[in-house]
Amino acid sequence: EDAEKSGYPHFMLKEIFEQPRALDSTLHSLLSRNDMDFDFERVTIVACGTSYHAGLVGKYLIEELLQIPVDVYYASEYRYRPDVVEDSLAIFITQSGETADTIAAARKAKVSGNETLAITNVVGSSITSYVDRVLYTNAGPEIGVAATKTFTAQLLALEYFAIRAGESMGKLSVSQVRNFINSLRKIPLYVENTLNLNDIIEKEAKKIYKNKDMFFIGRSMNYPIALEGALKMKEISYIHAEGYPAGELKHGPLALIEEGIPVIALVPEDITYDKMLSNIKEVSARNAYVIGVSSNMDVGKYVDTLIKVPETELYLSPFVNVVVLQLLAYHAARLLGRDIDKPRNLAKSVTVE
Ligand code: AGP
Repeated sequence: EDAEKSGYPHFMLKEIFEQPRALDSTLHSLLSRNDMDFDFERVTIVACGTSYHAGLVGKYLIEELLQIPVDVYYASEYRYRPDVVEDSLAIFITQSGETADTIAAARKAKVSGNETLAITNVVGSSITSYVDRVLYTNAGPEIGVAATKTFTAQLLALEYFAIRAGESMGKLSVSQVRNFINSLRKIPLYVENTLNLNDIIEKEAKKIYKNKDMFFIGRSMNYPIALEGALKMKEISYIHAEGYPAGELKHGPLALIEEGIPVIALVPEDITYDKMLSNIKEVSARNAYVIGVSSNMDVGKYVDTLIKVPETELYLSPFVNVVVLQLLAYHAARLLGRDIDKPRNLAKSVTVE
């Protein structure tokens, strides 16, 4: 087992660091596809856990690029939906391809007459026999129970899907498609540069790992990244963490903010920037310990610590932000002496409904 970890103390850390390669190889395999023609009026995305968070990012992206409505369901909840037959593409995201709830949802979607597409990391996994089309992520095997490289590979597959669907449905021009694809090629480097922040992130983990509770906040495409940061933290460190759309804080959770509670705020330089700064002021005024994750140095004026991430094109900030949160959770869990690759009560793939 030690040999398989290639010198890393845990599979999770190895897999976090494998992301540039996993993304590069996923993009190569996606670029070789010549069957990316689509035609649909709406999209339904179904998944569990981390894959569900990828689906939520996909929602923002597809709605933005294609201007069509996207619904995202937890697979375990999709079954309670009536069998509405509609001109919809249903996308099932599952790294393992074996998650029982997601497979059950795919069967249901087919019966309802939807066109179906799976995004999975495992060739020939069960989900592939229940859907019309499959997009593979090429992240390589993921051993750690916490999903890391498969998540960013799913994000990439969704970005690529949205661009190609936009192209085939005439919603994006040839030059827009070219520009988007060129920006996807830069993702492995952005992630590589974010991994270089590992020591800084470890120092931050040392400041917060003894806390019992923490908050992750973001807006728009980085709201699901906040959810994912909180899930990673809970799953491997057992610290209670909440992910919130930042604008929702004042509708309840702000009551929980007290002196010293860590709030990790994702502040990309996009439409959410000013509003995120307002939310940071709200929690700072209650003496929270705020860690800002941003490419803009100015954010440093409003937070206790700024983790300065690489600047990216619009829509690509989730890739760098999530890497910071994966490392933060990893280091917190390590400092607490947790069984990082095999957290208590959890299995790598959940094959019961
Ligand atoms: C992620 O860290 C979790 N271990 C879990 O939420 C996982 O993403 C979920 O069980 C879905 O798995 P799948 O992608 O294999 O369907």
